[in-house]
Amino acid sequence: MNAGEQAGVLRQRRQRVETAWSGIDVDGPVLIPASLPIPIDGTDQFHEFHAHPEFQYLTGVAEPGAALAWERERGWTLFAPSLSVEDLVWMSAPPSADALAKATGVGRSVDRSELAGWLESQRGRGLVLLGSRDIETRATEYGVEAWSTLEAVVDEDATDRLGKALAKLRRAKDAVEMDRMTRAVDAAVEGHLAAQRLARHGLTERALQIEMEAEFFRQGGARTAYGSIIGSGPNSAILHGTPGERVMSDGELVLIDAGAEIEGYASDVSRTFPVSASFTTIQRELYNVVLAAQQEAIAAAGPGVEYKSLHLQASATIAQGLVDVGVLRGSVDELVAADAHALFFSHGLGHMLGLSTHDCGGYLEGRVPEDRFGLAYLRADLPLQPGYVVTIEPGVYFVPALLNDPARRERYAEMVNWDVVDGMLDFGGIRIEDDVLITTDGCDVMSGALPSAAAEIEAIRRDALGVTSD
Ligand code: GLY
Ligand code: MN
Repeated sequence: MNAGEQAGVLRQRRQRVETAWSGIDVDGPVLIPASLPIPIDGTDQFHEFHAHPEFQYLTGVAEPGAALAWERERGWTLFAPSLSVEDLVWMSAPPSADALAKATGVGRSVDRSELAGWLESQRGRGLVLLGSRDIETRATEYGVEAWSTLEAVVDEDATDRLGKALAKLRRAKDAVEMDRMTRAVDAAVEGHLAAQRLARHGLTERALQIEMEAEFFRQGGARTAYGSIIGSGPNSAILHGTPGERVMSDGELVLIDAGAEIEGYASDVSRTFPVSASFTTIQRELYNVVLAAQQEAIAAAGPGVEYKSLHLQASATIAQGLVDVGVLRGSVDELVAADAHALFFSHGLGHMLGLSTHDCGGYLEGRVPEDRFGLAYLRADLPLQPGYVVTIEPGVYFVPALLNDPARRERYAEMVNWDVVDGMLDFGGIRIEDDVLITTDGCDVMSGALPSAAAEIEAIRRDALGVTSD
């Protein structure tokens, strides 16, 4: 997509927002700061810059210190930052207001020095303040010398209402977003394959991380979408474990949950594979339970389908699988109703994906996460619609902290075969996660090029290890 086409899609995106906001009875102007870089103590540099997603959604760019404004009467104005001569000695020049106008399609792009005057002209009107709120405490860094004397009053109720309308629109991805997300997912797939080909007995988790992330970056990734999660052996049960110097061994599992970020958009993919050329019997049994839960959810996902019902179906499949291997006992309905499965599947089926790894808009208006162990970590509860991108990522884990907790052992005394669990406390965990676009008649698995069937994973591992026979 060329720059002109991209700017056209961005204009349509803002038009949809404008239409939604115009229907809400709010008088005040809207200001959406991009956010400022955060200094790193003891250096003259800054943490990696993350633009506020609301600014990035409305402009398509991530420009530190920029701000976008919207007025009912005049439409959009983009305030483009410029640097002093002294700053330009140390930092690259930001794009000019004209360059930002071309990239974003915001016709009225002006130097940020005009922001103070714009705010002055709004004096007396309640301000809707979306995007980063750092302007309230760091106004001078936006070139606004006297925020306090402007007597700017943020209308919190209006901010909440317009923010919710924006989050709702951000659920379905447009063509520019899908282009970026597709590239982010493709980069993730290549990075995962690189790690699956490299892993072997004696290697550290950190060594896999280095090669996987290098592949993300070679494929266009600007950075990782979140801290890469890599766990070998028992570490694979740590849901958000950081890769470290642990050395992996034959017979263990490796769980990798990692994605690349491209032009602000995240991918988020998980696979679990054996360090050896093949899974052990129990590893394969549980792997296939998780895979069945994931494949059923993918087969059922489509417009109008409640994401929570997919989660509950996956919970039932996992409960049945755990009964089949002798970990749980009892009827699946009773086990799921009592959250016994959540001792082993202690997170939600997945989440919205987009500008953030856990993108906004996951809960339908009026719904909130349930205060129940088996549902509390569900990050999305809404009917799916075409254009939504969600992850589908069931898992099974043996988390010693959870499984050694006396209160849980007592509560689930009848439902869990604790002697079996005691023999599996160092099993680790399995997660299989794909990024899924909801279409008009079902869904597309965007990360489907990365194999997930046990036999396919083993074929990659055999090839990687030079093992020719089964
Ligand atoms: N991939 C990390 C998460 O979904 O929380
Ligand atoms: Mn995820």
